[in-house]
Amino acid sequence: MGAVSAFPLSRTVALSRTVAGLALGALVLSGCGSSLDESTGSGTEEDRSGGNVKIGLLVPLSGVYAPLGEDMKAGFELYLDQHDGKLGGRKVDLVTADEGESPQTGVPAAQKLVTQDQVTAVAGVVNSATALGLRDFFDESKKPLLVANAGADDITGARKSEYVWRTSFSNGGVSGALGQAVADEVKGGVYLIAADYAAGKEMVAGFRKTFEAAGGKVAGEKYTPFGKTQDFQPYLSAIRKSGADAVYAFYAGAEAVNFVKQYKQFGLADKTALYGTGFLTEGGALAAQGKAAIGVKTSLHYSTELDTPVNKEFAAAYRAEAGKAPTVYAVQGYDTAAVLDKALAEASGDSGDALVKALGKVGSIDSPRGAWKFDADHNPEQTYYLREVRADGDTAVNAVLGELG
Ligand code: PHB
Repeated sequence: MGAVSAFPLSRTVALSRTVAGLALGALVLSGCGSSLDESTGSGTEEDRSGGNVKIGLLVPLSGVYAPLGEDMKAGFELYLDQHDGKLGGRKVDLVTADEGESPQTGVPAAQKLVTQDQVTAVAGVVNSATALGLRDFFDESKKPLLVANAGADDITGARKSEYVWRTSFSNGGVSGALGQAVADEVKGGVYLIAADYAAGKEMVAGFRKTFEAAGGKVAGEKYTPFGKTQDFQPYLSAIRKSGADAVYAFYAGAEAVNFVKQYKQFGLADKTALYGTGFLTEGGALAAQGKAAIGVKTSLHYSTELDTPVNKEFAAAYRAEAGKAPTVYAVQGYDTAAVLDKALAEASGDSGDALVKALGKVGSIDSPRGAWKFDADHNPEQTYYLREVRADGDTAVNAVLGELG
């Protein structure tokens, strides 16, 4: 069992409720004047006159998702650099914390940002289980959380909160976007495989729903221990035995590298088409997979190959600063800074209530991914693209085949 699957969701949420309660108590007991004053919505003299604003950035800097966290941080920092280090006209004190690989590390790190560092808002969070574990803490402490990756469906669904906003995607949205296309292209059964934790389960469920509704047939389903699986051979053997005509997979970061490379080495790639959410072939993962990823088709709300002026300008600036091609994680970090820029300019004071009111008014974000805006549940309304990995000289890129309906 993987690190997170050994820590089931219900327990994660229950623990986070307890920890959220304790941390809230600490917040009140410590009598941290500014936070409590701020929660009245009036803001301090300094806030109103445009003093510095402290923002927490919670991203994985360790574990299988560390490369994702680095990209997200680089995207956020690029926006800051392009805006004189300011958001809403105020100099930003950015406090970065390591989310790690699971809620066991991510939840306390977020709580420290709020209770000890006393940030005005927290941005980041890559892992769905961590986002779910944090929901009650932010809801109860009335601090804004801007989820810049984690796709947990409930965060902007059944368990939505006034204080939780998402600038990325929902797991059901990004995976469901591909169902019809795969049902149209594949005649036989499709085998579903994913990392065994909240996001993997939801990606498979989201894909299965639209795929089966479009007449697709499932040939098998398997979840692999999250953060622990390096050798995918036993799973690849099971796929071969199932007689599936194609595979749908959710992996990201280091797991995506191993899965796609071994899929090719095992000889499956030539006979059994590989589909997935775009995280499977994104950024550093695609660079490491190289030619092994050619032909993999995915759904995502971004590609470096998007031929728009906004994306070209962004990609050139990111390449110049980060020394590599941008990724969806970088775009999500960049857009989160853009959202905060607009909201902080609009908000009257630093209270969570003032900021979430302003978040409701940010309108359309002119993003490298294409224009998007928050829906009524605080989730992006955006375009998903069908992408295919193709060779481009010595490298591989996610060519955009079209928009998914
Ligand atoms: C998630 O846990 O929600 C997650 C993690 C990595 C991704 C996408 C989603 O690339």
